[in-house]
Amino acid sequence: MKTALVLNGPNLNLLGTREPAVYGSQTLADVQALCQQACATHGFALDFRQSNHEGVLVDWLHEAGRLNAAGELAGVVLNAGAYTHTSVALHDAIKGTGIALIELHISNVHAREAFRHHSYISPAARAVMAGFGVQGYALAISGLAGLAGL
Ligand code: DQA
Repeated sequence: MKTALVLNGPNLNLLGTREPAVYGSQTLADVQALCQQACATHGFALDFRQSNHEGVLVDWLHEAGRLNAAGELAGVVLNAGAYTHTSVALHDAIKGTGIALIELHISNVHAREAFRHHSYISPAARAVMAGFGVQGYALAISGLAGLAGL
């Protein structure tokens, strides 16, 4: 069984109480349960993580690269939070590993402040999703299954 790795960046541990008008009222634990259900549907094992630290996310992407090389990775769903808009290191980590990665945002970043319109992740990602709310995580896992069939 291949693993879908769902990585969450800074402040996503605050889901549920953080700007609910933007991000909704579901917690990160709720999102994990949603992902678990989607993974069960597609026959993936779920590895779900969150960190507020850029280097930890880089290390996890490297780990995904090793899993991918072993033929054990279904793909990665990454909500890099604010690092989306700042991190060359995450861009390089994705490119360096050759993993299939979906960039995900709960909110429609393009309908928000101008500083959220640029992403360092997008040029390195296989696909980009924004604005579906937390339901986007389940859609992204379905997307990984779709990409695997390409
Ligand atoms: C976010 C959008 C980012 O701009 C923001 O910094 C986040 C969350 C989203 O899921 O909509 O932390 O990635």
